[in-house]
Amino acid sequence: MQHSTYSLLPARRVGQAIVWLALFLLGPAALAETVQSPNGQLTLDFSLQNGGVPTYRLTYKGRDVIKPSTLGLELKDAPSLTEGFAVATTKTVAIDQSWQPVWGEVKTIRNHYNELAVTLTQATTQRTMLVRFRVFDDGLGFRYEFPRQPNLGYFVVKEEKTQFALAGDHKAFWLPGDYDTQEYSTVTSKLSKVRGLMKAATTPNASQTPFSPTGVQTPLMLKSKDGLYINIHEAALVDYSCMSLELDDKDMILTSHLTPDAQGNKGYLQTPCLSPWRTVIVSDKAGDILESKLVLNLNEPTKFKDTSWIKPTKYVGVWWEMITGKSTWAYTNMDNIKLDSIDYSKVKPNGTHAANTAHVKEYIDFAAQHHLDAVLVEGWNTGWEDWFGKSKDYVFDFVTPYPDFDVEELHRYAKSKGVKIIMHHETSGSVRNYERHLESAFQFMNKHGYDAVKTGYVGDILPRGEYHYGQWTVNHYNYVLEKAAEHHIMVNGHEAVRPTGLSRTYPNLIGNEAARGTEYEAFGGNNADHTTILPFTRLIGGPMDYTPGIFQTKVSAYNPQNNSFVHSTLARQLALYVTMYSPLQMAADLPETYNKFLDAFQFIEDVAVDWDDSKVLEAEPGDYVTIARKAKGTSNWFVGSSCDENGRTSTIDFRFLDPGKKYTATIYADAKSAHYEKNPQAYQIRKMTVTSKTKLKQYCAPGGGYAISVMAGK
Ligand code: NOJ
Ligand code: CA
Repeated sequence: MQHSTYSLLPARRVGQAIVWLALFLLGPAALAETVQSPNGQLTLDFSLQNGGVPTYRLTYKGRDVIKPSTLGLELKDAPSLTEGFAVATTKTVAIDQSWQPVWGEVKTIRNHYNELAVTLTQATTQRTMLVRFRVFDDGLGFRYEFPRQPNLGYFVVKEEKTQFALAGDHKAFWLPGDYDTQEYSTVTSKLSKVRGLMKAATTPNASQTPFSPTGVQTPLMLKSKDGLYINIHEAALVDYSCMSLELDDKDMILTSHLTPDAQGNKGYLQTPCLSPWRTVIVSDKAGDILESKLVLNLNEPTKFKDTSWIKPTKYVGVWWEMITGKSTWAYTNMDNIKLDSIDYSKVKPNGTHAANTAHVKEYIDFAAQHHLDAVLVEGWNTGWEDWFGKSKDYVFDFVTPYPDFDVEELHRYAKSKGVKIIMHHETSGSVRNYERHLESAFQFMNKHGYDAVKTGYVGDILPRGEYHYGQWTVNHYNYVLEKAAEHHIMVNGHEAVRPTGLSRTYPNLIGNEAARGTEYEAFGGNNADHTTILPFTRLIGGPMDYTPGIFQTKVSAYNPQNNSFVHSTLARQLALYVTMYSPLQMAADLPETYNKFLDAFQFIEDVAVDWDDSKVLEAEPGDYVTIARKAKGTSNWFVGSSCDENGRTSTIDFRFLDPGKKYTATIYADAKSAHYEKNPQAYQIRKMTVTSKTKLKQYCAPGGGYAISVMAGK
């Protein structure tokens, strides 16, 4: 690690006043600190620019990743924390530790970095702000810290002003910046094209608040002309607003843009307090971005003493049939009716309500037969007639089943088959109503044997004016995690803020949506390259409940009115269980369809949901992703590969296997004639013996892919 504290020495001894003076005498960038990554490839420079403006710069193998970029915050009704600073102290520390996640892609995670903590004082206000930088081999994390102090207690954030000045007009994989949703298709373009493409990119959603013609979301994936892969996101979003990025498309500078609240304020803080980490992952190999554990490393270790109740889960669900429009969540067809005026014991059922006892039992039987852990049931509770598209404070109570859903009998039946039922709480965006009912809803779950809940926040947030990604709502999601943990409940949050590695601290957060999931294949479709991008964007923050496994790719087979189709071959649907890492994986299609393709379903039955090791074999964002993972506690591996609309031939080098061992590989692949649109169900299954010396060429059809189970010693 290099050090250049020389110009700071007088400051330490004589105090802030002299530093302030020195700043003017020494001129720009006189106060500089440098810290390198453990392998020396990344260099972080911190300096105070003219006028005491805190500035950082990041290079990778001598190339600019982030050019000199300024730091700080603007406050409401108080002087900014952006300039007039002097360095009071600096401290460096080198850390090399390892830890084991409760569940994950690998068994052990190395947390290896060099840290620089710079304490800054603002002479004119006598306020102190600390910037902590951690430089890992795979990137940089930094955050603001505000110690308790006489002149900075409670304060309101007007805007965070963290810059990421890029070295060029990079290729970007971006989503429109929005305070309420990430359910957009990713646009791949140069940064200079963002403005021109923004309007078309901002497709409709049940709740959306785009904020700027050049605003984009994180995780933002970038690729420079000279082949640097750069990912910008945040880690440990706690008691703070979610950050988007505002692009200055002349100078290619991204600046933090926080989600406001109903008043337009961006955060309410009180010392001592912290910002989330701002993260920049960088490499000249795309696969390194996918293997990075930087975001997890920057989160706090869990305080949960007992985690034995947290279990990676594979599930089916009474779900896709409603998404496609074959069945309904609601018990009746009474539309636009006030919930408290419905007497469910008297009204006529619509005959399409899927969450009925007999039908749920069919799913339980299927799960039991195929060794799946659980069945999600949506539309089990009253209120579905009276919520969508309305701003209503109180709809769902989360404890009252429809008359045809026998909670007790289903609990008994599922238990007898060794299957769990996953609870569903659609909050209708009414955070206030959900918090009021949370305790009784979780007690109800405990009483009836549920240990996991899928939450949802469709529509605008209530109280009115709050956004899905504001500090207040962020605090709600984290409150739900804490309360759920008290009840030993796992949480899969849909429409909640995108994850930032918080599952390290709250390992009961086993899934999130926060992107365009498979459901959009029934709402017009996802791009064929969608699943070659998501691992580089959305998944950098944590696992996604993407809900793969659709074998009947024509939605009209379930609902003749719906002409959408899944933009993927069947074989690629299998690959997603490996490429889209999650400890929670759904087999999203209907049992009646799986029963017609049981040879292919075998992969879903076999694939693990928890891993000891993971290796990215091939990757290029927007083009292809091939990953191999070793199933937890076994010697078995699973390989998945997903490619874009062009198709390709992939080369798999099995050197990740134990030398000298023989394995049986079962390859589930696209047939030569397969095509995501024209011939999605054409697949072939073949078996072969492989060893660590095997190299295999494998064809992927347009919008296709393959999945391989590699079983040891058979
Ligand atoms: C949106 C969720 O993403 C989806 O999975 C769920 O079925 C619906 N909301 C209904 O709550
Ligand atoms: Ca959704």
